[in-house]
Amino acid sequence: MNKLLSELSTIGKNGYQLPPSDVPSFPPLPIRVRQENAPVLPSLGELEVVRHFTLLAADTFNVEQGMYPLGSCTMKYNPKVNEEIARNPLFTDIHPLQDSSTTQGSLFVMNSLLKGLCSIVGMDDGTLQSAGGAQGEYIGLHLIKSYYRSRNEAHRNTVLIPSNAHGTNPASASFCNMEVVEIPVNKRGQVDVKALPLFLNENIAAIMLTNPNTLGLYEDDIKEIANLVHASGALLYYDGANLNAIMNIVKPGEMGFDVMHVNVHKTFSTPHGGGGPGAGPVLVKKILSPFLPFPRIIDKGESLEFSFEPLTSIGKTLGFWGNFLVLLRAFSYITYLGDEGLTHSAMMAVLNANYMKGRLKGTIPLSHTGNHLHEVVFSCKELKEKSGTTTLDIAKALIDKGFHPPTIYFPLIVSEAMMIEPTETESLEDLDAFVDALLEIVNEALLKETPFKESPHSKSVKRVDEVRAARTPIVHW
Ligand SMILES: Cc1ncc(COP(=O)(O)O)c(C=O)c1O
Repeated sequence: MNKLLSELSTIGKNGYQLPPSDVPSFPPLPIRVRQENAPVLPSLGELEVVRHFTLLAADTFNVEQGMYPLGSCTMKYNPKVNEEIARNPLFTDIHPLQDSSTTQGSLFVMNSLLKGLCSIVGMDDGTLQSAGGAQGEYIGLHLIKSYYRSRNEAHRNTVLIPSNAHGTNPASASFCNMEVVEIPVNKRGQVDVKALPLFLNENIAAIMLTNPNTLGLYEDDIKEIANLVHASGALLYYDGANLNAIMNIVKPGEMGFDVMHVNVHKTFSTPHGGGGPGAGPVLVKKILSPFLPFPRIIDKGESLEFSFEPLTSIGKTLGFWGNFLVLLRAFSYITYLGDEGLTHSAMMAVLNANYMKGRLKGTIPLSHTGNHLHEVVFSCKELKEKSGTTTLDIAKALIDKGFHPPTIYFPLIVSEAMMIEPTETESLEDLDAFVDALLEIVNEALLKETPFKESPHSKSVKRVDEVRAARTPIVHW
């Protein structure tokens, strides 16, 4: 295990050389804010610090090292051209408080991205003021609440969420002080449209869905669902996490959704993982426009300007103008691929997932049969019963073979779930190498007695007690 900087520290070392101050330290800070003792920081030379972080980086898996088939997350490769553009000093050296007459280029990027996203998903308007998918959900639900308040229907405060939904959906609704009611999924792994009317009443604000759903299956009854929900006076929220499967092919707006977020860090290839910075633009139909957060970008003909109107807006949801450099990468990606490229990407994502599904046929059973799109959920229940090897063991064994594990134990409705999303950026050779590794692991599990309980062996951090780590985290040293 790599040592911590504090363990590597030697008193007296330092990694910087500054000349003595040649300006008076005046005025002195007021006593109440002055710190008597210097902070205890590690003392290290510059090279030691660089080596430390380089070793950590090398030990951290990323999509540039190998395949990262994490279902529900679309861990595709982020093309370097996006990085190059996002590092251009013309973008990085501007200040958010600069006069807008000097930042028209950046305003153009934001305005064009918003319009482009609206066109891709079939919505009318939106905001870029969200730092990720979950915050997008939170903002979208607030828009719905404001909409009902404006119609004197504040009692509509319940959100219907299917049992296979991602945990952020009910969490966001709870954060918005909304009630959550779980609705059932049928044997085909789709919303049970026959049961849906039983849940629709005058208190329902919205249904939250992702399509294709978290099983990778397209909701065949989406039109009927939308009709039923709208007829009951409620709205439809689209969780954009799975947009990669249908990008530029089917539009959530045309399916009947009224509001959605886009996880640009998934679909539009901006950096992902490590907790941010991200972006989760929220896009809406006209009826929700008056409530969108500000600032809005207004096209005044000769210039683009920020606007802090209308008063019906839910207000500010992110610092300054949002995570601009993330949005810039998404703009670069969309512009670079163009209409045809985006459609082709979605088709390749679906093809790759189905190629894997085909190659794994007969080895690990599917959780649900049906037409899978960009990701496929398997159940390792049978293997566990036969051999004692769990989905977790398989995931850890894959690490030793050089692959990031797929998503496991999600969706919760699938026992011993393993969700694989290869994305469009993997080649046929890489898909085959991953499937071969998985097949080898399954064969070994069937031949030997629980061979992977100690895996992974190749990493500095071995098997950790994840439950204990979450329940009793040590967050300082
Ligand atoms: C289906 C689904 N919805 C929502 C989210 C939340 O998105 P974010 O991680 O950008 O907050 C995720 C994240 O993985 C997801 O898979």
